Amino acid sequence: MSPEPGHPPLRAFLAARASLIDASGIRKVFDLAATLDDPIDLSIGRPYQDAPEPVKESAIRAIRRGDNAYTPTQGRSDLVDSLLERLGREVSIEDRAVLVTSGVSGGLFLAFAALIDPGDEVLMADPYFVIYHHVVRFFGGVPVPVDTYPDFRMTAERIEPHITDRSKLLIVSSPANPTGTVLDADHLAEIADLAGRRGLMVLSDEIYREFSYDGPAPSMAGLHEPTLLLAGFSKSHAVTGWRVGYAFGPAELIAEMGKLQQYSFVCAPAPFQAAMLENLDLDTTEMRSDYRRKRDLLYNGISANYDLTRPAGAFYAFPRVPRGTDVEFVEQAVRNNLLVIPGSIFSGRNTHFRISYAADDETLKRGVAVLNDLA
Ligand SMILES: Cc1ncc(COP(=O)(O)O)c(C=O)c1O
Repeated sequence: MSPEPGHPPLRAFLAARASLIDASGIRKVFDLAATLDDPIDLSIGRPYQDAPEPVKESAIRAIRRGDNAYTPTQGRSDLVDSLLERLGREVSIEDRAVLVTSGVSGGLFLAFAALIDPGDEVLMADPYFVIYHHVVRFFGGVPVPVDTYPDFRMTAERIEPHITDRSKLLIVSSPANPTGTVLDADHLAEIADLAGRRGLMVLSDEIYREFSYDGPAPSMAGLHEPTLLLAGFSKSHAVTGWRVGYAFGPAELIAEMGKLQQYSFVCAPAPFQAAMLENLDLDTTEMRSDYRRKRDLLYNGISANYDLTRPAGAFYAFPRVPRGTDVEFVEQAVRNNLLVIPGSIFSGRNTHFRISYAADDETLKRGVAVLNDLA
């Protein structure tokens, strides 16, 4: 319906900052997906299985028990204390605090809100996780992508030329979405050294810390000060819809983020905080073996036909398209009933595409066959 005469179009009411977030790329993929009946879906960024039964039972018990009201903004105190105690064993820096957030996404939003002034530059690996790029812009910051092709390693050497006197924050994400790269301890130490020399704050997104297949993923927390660590339960406990994560960092920053949470998210969902408290020690060994096997199935299945760095963590692979652009290739894949994501959604380049191997074996094998046909 067109607006009545004299009424300005709705666009006139929208804040200019809303237009800084562009979701058109992802939307295009969803639109394409909607045209398929039973696609081979290797596009999804979440565990393919449902949450473990004991985790679900914990949440059900919490709701029945009446854990349904607001919790303190920083999170229920027993959960905050348990997280602090666990993280304190890894990081022996004084003056740390924890904020329970609405997933890592909630933590990212609060961190950027608390840290970014207009014009502040935020260094991040390219390819990057989409939220970093768009939400930094939303708060008036300037995303500064550090090209990491072709091996997707964020190294001090690659970062340094991009540092200016407006650089404030460096995002480290390992294991990474969309590339599956895991940075080793030496690389992290070099990055920490650079951040120290150049006076940068580090934000370390470790949501995939449980998803490292060739040895544990080293953490950035404890290597550099100040560092804000963000992690959560969405992937490790297969509860992406529950929205529970946490931020661990300097008490003064955590207090600022808490103040902003008080007036926005208020608190992470109460029954799910309770469920996470009961399942902090969930054994993820079997899950990790399962994903390691899937990584091998995909990598061994397509590496002869694709230019692909072997991913070591998360559940993504990021191969080069065999010809043309990423969007052309993805359109061709969709015509063959396969859903994958064009790399330009995560990058300034349009030469690669993202495969998620968080899928059952049958789907994954069908996907491998189509990918080899397309190559
Ligand atoms: C790198 C990375 N960070 C953060 C998130 C957000 O996770 P959540 O908000 O569910 O905790 C994701 C989800 O895909 C991710 O891939």
